Amino acid sequence: MLCTEQLCAGYGPFQALFGVGLRLEEAETIALIGANGAGKTTLLRCMAGAIRPSGGTITVGGRETAGRDELHQLRMGIALVPEGRKLFPTLTVRENLELAQRASLERSPTWTVESLFDELPALAALQGRPATALSGGQQQLVAIARALATNPDYLLCDEISLGLSPAAVDEVYGLLARARRRTRLAVLLVEQNVARALGESERFYCIQKGRIVLEGRSADADHAQVAQAYFGV
Ligand SMILES: Nc1ncnc2c1ncn2[C@@H]1O[C@H](COP(=O)(O)OP(=O)(O)OP(=O)(O)O)[C@@H](O)[C@H]1O
Ligand SMILES: [Mg+2]
Repeated sequence: MLCTEQLCAGYGPFQALFGVGLRLEEAETIALIGANGAGKTTLLRCMAGAIRPSGGTITVGGRETAGRDELHQLRMGIALVPEGRKLFPTLTVRENLELAQRASLERSPTWTVESLFDELPALAALQGRPATALSGGQQQLVAIARALATNPDYLLCDEISLGLSPAAVDEVYGLLARARRRTRLAVLLVEQNVARALGESERFYCIQKGRIVLEGRSADADHAQVAQAYFGV
């Protein structure tokens, strides 16, 4: 289980997270819902080791990891699909995956670059192209594949459907579903489409101004309550 307790973080004097508690259990999918600036990306980047929290704990399987760096968190099984994809623009599709694979040498290799290309034949055909020469939907698949190449137990997905066509969104979620069938992958979704977020997840959390204000089972979610938590009205 990946767990935060009383997590606080910010940027210099600006505090963005105020005592966030969240848990992600093995093999489950959860949604993190909140308005612009609520702190979703900050929370994911803390868990992935990209931001050092100013307080609280982040545990993985009971081991404290707050303040450890991204490589450490990758080796603990936490992979981030970052907001805006952040592919390496000068590298090809294949090189993006190969670089990620190298970061995970000590982890059990469910996913290799070849098995990812078997899973995504359309990408295999484009593997020699610069990653950023692909369409938005294809680039998002590369970003997810790059995270899977580290063979994570916990996949943190930040706005993976933003700006994509409906068909591309379905492809992205299809890949996640296949990945979940293959391993006991746990997924955290940050998703602007609240109905989709609830439909794809087993549990949800609503975050408002750096605090969790609502959580529950997605199937039982009261959509009016979620909207209220989202907009803060
Ligand atoms: N690099 C930064 N420097 C200073 N403040 C930042 C930085 N990144 C984010 N913030 C601030 O921290 C708060 C939380 O931002 P964060 O990006 O985590 O929100 P978010 O929920 O991911 O929003 P969005 O839906 O727009 O992606 C916001 O008030 C934001 O302006
Ligand atoms: Mg964000």
